[in-house]
Amino acid sequence: MTGTRMPDLFGSTPRQLKIVNVASVPQRSPFRYAGGKTWLIPRVREWLSIYGGMDKELVEPFAGGGIVTLTAVMENMVGKATMIELDEDVASVWKTILGGEAEWLAGEIERFNLTAENVSSILSKPPASTNARAFATIIKNRVTRGGILAPGVGLIKNGENGKGLASRWYPKTLKTRILAIDAVRRRIRFIQGDAFPFLKKNAKRKNLVFFVDPPYTKAGRRLYKYFDVDHDLLFRIVSQMSGSFLMTYDNEKEIRKLAKKYHLATRTVPMKNTHHSEKLELLISRNLDWLV
Ligand SMILES: C[S@@+](CC[C@H](N)C(=O)[O-])C[C@H]1O[C@@H](n2cnc3c(N)ncnc32)[C@H](O)[C@@H]1O
Repeated sequence: MTGTRMPDLFGSTPRQLKIVNVASVPQRSPFRYAGGKTWLIPRVREWLSIYGGMDKELVEPFAGGGIVTLTAVMENMVGKATMIELDEDVASVWKTILGGEAEWLAGEIERFNLTAENVSSILSKPPASTNARAFATIIKNRVTRGGILAPGVGLIKNGENGKGLASRWYPKTLKTRILAIDAVRRRIRFIQGDAFPFLKKNAKRKNLVFFVDPPYTKAGRRLYKYFDVDHDLLFRIVSQMSGSFLMTYDNEKEIRKLAKKYHLATRTVPMKNTHHSEKLELLISRNLDWLV
């Protein structure tokens, strides 16, 4: 659906969007993901209610914790999805769950006694298999500050309620989430690797819709092992896509300039970061008139 919105009586400035209460969004990812987009889910639902459908395939080229893919598939907003992720640790979790080893992973999580000693024994040795790497990644994601998986990140010290290292360890919740993903795994394909070749090759496919959430220009370096993205090239590729795309970025001048260069629409959306302070992020698409 295209077409432009009529300007309202007092001019065409869109009204300020409201902050989403994240607690109202079902948390379906096994990750606590730095830069995760749970807060954007209500907007993604609006977007897919127009551009999605069971005949569509969602592509999430910078998948991370994959909340958008999981929500879109589980809520039948698209028929199927493809997730792409370059980070080997993050990829090992998706390969294990989507490759039919969800029960194994959930069982390991349920049995694990999370003490400093057990954590250090898991994280100090190189994992012997993809499954073992997935388990170690889940542990690491639960014991590092902010769930950050980039090299050199510190561990949680005091944590919530003085529970220290285990303050983010909810094995039963993780098991439930992993088994729920297992139930839809035949509708989700995972590709480990660089998003760019896939995007270049598939940009013209009309049945694809793309949720594009790359590492941001400023925070990316601190949060991810792979943060160096050719932003200009990414803008060029999405601007040539046949299907719809929704892209998110930090609200930086250089990004707004790129949007202008490629004739794309932008709109700021407010969100609360982990320190509970409000900040604006940028939504970018060919057309954002559906965003009310
Ligand atoms: C902002 S995060 C995505 C967060 C995700 N939308 C979520 O809600 O959890 C960006 C992700 O892109 C990944 N990444 C960086 N460069 C990549 C590339 N060239 N191809 C695929 N993934 C890449 C990073 O490892 C990181 O997980």
